[in-house]
Amino acid sequence: MATIFDDIEETLFTEEEIAAIVQKMGKQISEDYADKNLFLVSVLKGSLMFMADLMREITIPCSIDFLSVSSYGSGTSTSGEVRILKDLDASLEGKDLLVVEDILDSGVTLSYLLKTLSARNPASIRLCTFLDKPERRRVDIKADYIGASVPDKFIVGYGLDYAEKYRNIPFIGVLKPEVYTHEKE
Ligand code: IMP
Ligand code: MG
Repeated sequence: MATIFDDIEETLFTEEEIAAIVQKMGKQISEDYADKNLFLVSVLKGSLMFMADLMREITIPCSIDFLSVSSYGSGTSTSGEVRILKDLDASLEGKDLLVVEDILDSGVTLSYLLKTLSARNPASIRLCTFLDKPERRRVDIKADYIGASVPDKFIVGYGLDYAEKYRNIPFIGVLKPEVYTHEKE
């Protein structure tokens, strides 16, 4: 029987390693936001597992919401164009926003979100990403919280997909290039 694991070339972070990283991030965020009005905004769908784990490592009061932006379609690099497909439910006024992302790649998505959400007058806004691929940056942006840096390879699992597949892999792995080399450039 073929499984999703057949298409993985290499494991970058095991479930245990992920748990240790997320625990550390949650502790830091709990300290930094101790006297703030923490509002976690998860960028769907990639950050769903990270968000679920991270919020359980946060020990201070917080509230959450979700938004969704237009994605890559089935490609492996961004089109450079971002749109909000599902917006937040409530006003951001007075909230200390922490945007929770799966991976910071070209930076196009997060810089767009930062600009759009800042305009809604939150008390503060910062970025938290589980993975960072600094080699691929096209816009000048840095996350305030970074779980781990990864090489310039296509990564799946722990919420990250290729063409909507592989999100259910519980660890972080590198996708075999032959899976996407049929893709038109
Ligand atoms: P950016 O706008 O290029 O920074 O892209 C951010 C989004 O692209 C992330 O939220 C992911 O959904 C997706 N992405 C970027 N790199 C990868 C990858 O290696 N695997 C899976 N998704 C990725
Ligand atoms: Mg994605």
